[in-house]
Parts: sequence; C-alpha cells; structure tokens
Amino acid sequence: MLSAAACSLRWAPASPRCGKAVIVTDDNVARYHLEPAEAALRHAGVASSRVIVPPGEASKGYLVFEQVCEAVIASRIERGDLAIALGGGVIGDLTGFVAAVVRRGLDYVQVPTTLLADVDSSVGGKTAIDSAHGKNLIGAFHQPILVLADTALLDTLPEREFRAGYAELVKYGLLGDADFFAWLEKNWREVFAGGPAREHAIAESCRAKAAIVARDERETGDRALLNLGHTFGHALEAACGFSDRLLHGEAISAGMALAFEFSARRQGLLPMAEAQRAIRHLAEVGLPTRLQDIPGPLPSVDQLMDLIAQDKKVKRGMLTFILVRGIGSAFIEAGVDAREVRVFLSEKLAER
Ligand SMILES: NC(=O)c1ccc[n+]([C@@H]2O[C@H](COP(=O)([O-])OP(=O)(O)OC[C@H]3O[C@@H](n4cnc5c(N)ncnc54)[C@H](O)[C@@H]3O)[C@@H](O)[C@H]2O)c1
Ligand SMILES: [Zn+2]
Repeated sequence: MLSAAACSLRWAPASPRCGKAVIVTDDNVARYHLEPAEAALRHAGVASSRVIVPPGEASKGYLVFEQVCEAVIASRIERGDLAIALGGGVIGDLTGFVAAVVRRGLDYVQVPTTLLADVDSSVGGKTAIDSAHGKNLIGAFHQPILVLADTALLDTLPEREFRAGYAELVKYGLLGDADFFAWLEKNWREVFAGGPAREHAIAESCRAKAAIVARDERETGDRALLNLGHTFGHALEAACGFSDRLLHGEAISAGMALAFEFSARRQGLLPMAEAQRAIRHLAEVGLPTRLQDIPGPLPSVDQLMDLIAQDKKVKRGMLTFILVRGIGSAFIEAGVDAREVRVFLSEKLAER
C-alpha cells in the first residue's frame, strides 16, 4: 500500500521555480501516506515541511486555520512555492483557503485521499472554513494548480467513508448522465473493489464536475445542479448535529432519494418507477435512502423545515430545489411551494 502511494506520488513540481512545499494533512492520513509523499518530493528535489492537524470537521475552524497559516508562514513558504493538501475534503478546503490568503495567494496542489475529495471537493476551487453560523461560510474561490488523484490512496479509507463518497459519485449520473448511472448499476461492485472500474468512475465524475464548473465557476446558475439531494441532505445532516450518526455523503444519499420521490410523487415530473430505480441503486450499495435508515431521533417537521429555510432562502413561501425529470435530468426550480415540502416530509416522518 505504502509503495503504491509512494510510486504514484512521484510527480514533477508544476512550477519550475518551486523549491519548497508544505504538506498539510491530518493524523489519519499522515499515518499511511505522509512519508511516501515526502519521499516522492525529496526524489523530485523539492524540500518539504509538514503540518498535521486533527482529523474531522473541527479542523475547519478558526483556531486550526490560524495555526496552519502561522505554520505555513513559519516554514518560509513564499509565492512560487507550493502548499499541498494531502487528505479528504476537510484538508482540501482548509489548505485551499490558507493558500488563498497567506501572502495574498499561494499555489496549491490537491492530493485527495477520500472518494468524496476525489470526485467532489478537490475539483472546482471552492475553499472554506466554518463559522459558528454554519459550514463553509468563510471562504474563497481559489483553484489548485494541480489535482493529483491517486486511487490507490483510497485503499486505506474505511469502507463507510468510501460508501459515503460513492453517493457524490452516483450524483453525477443522477443529475446529468443516465448512461453513467446505468454503468454504475452494473459495475458498482468493481468500483468498490478498486482497479480500472474505480478509476473510470472517478475520472467520469471529475469530468462531469469540471464541465459544470467551467460553465459557472461562481455558482450563479448551473453549478447549483451539483446540489442535487443537498437541500434535504443538509437538513438531515444538521438534524444529526453533523456527527458520525450521518456522514455527509450518507445524508446526500437520503436527500437524493427524497428529491427523486418528491419530484415523482408530489410534482408529477417522472414515473415513480424511475424514481424507485434511482433509490434502489443507492440502497443496494448500502447507503441510507429512507428516514428509517437514519439512527436515533429526528426532529419534528417544523424543525426540519426551519433547517431547510436556514440553508436555502425562502422567497414568498417558495424554495429553490434541484428537481428531476428523470435519471440524468436534473434542473433548478426556484418556485417549489414550501407547503408541498412540509406535507411530503410529514408523510416521510410518519413512516419512521
Ligand atoms: N470544496 C468543495 O467543493 C467541497 C465539496 C464537497 C465537500 N466539501 C467538504 O469536504 C468535507 C468532507 O470531506 P471528506 O468526506 O473527505 O471528510 P474528511 O476529510 O474528514 O475525511 C474523512 C475521514 O477519513 C480519514 N481519511 C481520509 N483519507 C484517508 C485515507 N486515505 N485512509 C484512511 N483514512 C482517511 C480522515 O482522517 C477523516 O477521519 C466537508 O468539510 C465538506 O464541507 C467541500
Ligand atoms: Zn455534497
């Protein structure tokens, strides 16, 4: 495992002027992948220093952000040097934001080590830390100069984390590519097992995300399609206190299942059988698709509606949702009646 990582991290620095790099990572990733990464940089003639933060979302807070900024400055990283985010979405978002602001902007490289980071957070240039008012509220658009996705790094990832990342991967099929979804239905076991199928699925997802971001980097339009399942999903994630009870990808799986059912049953946009096909695949890989699948108590429908309203602006009783006309046909609908959503969620809560 270590040698696989070391081998594929043998990369040439993108900037010929780059003499130094600082690697930002977390304890879990450091245990498996830091030394091979450092060795690969040494091999390429790049001196590196390391900053290791605790794993978990708490590292996207002001305190750790300050510590990482100070450590990067102390390691005498200057413009023309590199910051390297070696980790999942937490490390990518944190390091990207540090790189956006230290010395008014450093080049940085994303080396994603989770499936979620491979297919989502490392692509697109959104960087952020969290505020007491909500996640990702302090941030910047800052594109990495390189994303180095080595799928062998995923071999050490806990299966639950891999499965949660798969929800974001299948999202690209569900929102815009019915053929990719059908391919995943047939090949998901190989994607989980690793090898060429996994690489293909990750490459397809990156292409899909990059195409959307290229059309709309600042999310004034189409980029919002990437939020399929995220309105319901964020409310469920918040209801579980952003804890291990429900990982982000798990919440998005349940959120996409709800978005498909809502589109079919309450909006009449597609046959229920097609919605069920989408939901069946998520369930088959072991992701939650029903509120019953979420362990522990859930809040009332009023509280869930409050969480949805906090996340998305409600204008004159209307919510903006990503709805679907079928598998591979998502669209942005700004006029969803909040009362419809409430009735739907009440029914779903009653099924628990
Ligand atoms: N910028 C964006 O566009 C964007 C998009 C989606 C999500 N995000 C952000 O991404 C974050 C979630 O990312 P995540 O799911 O990757 O979580 P994460 O970075 O917390 O990683 C999940 C867990 O896996 C561990 N881990 C990571 N790689 C490992 C490996 N190879 N082997 C063993 N353990 C490993 C980590 O230490 C952590 O405990 C959230 O903060 C979210 O806001 C950002
Ligand atoms: Zn997401």
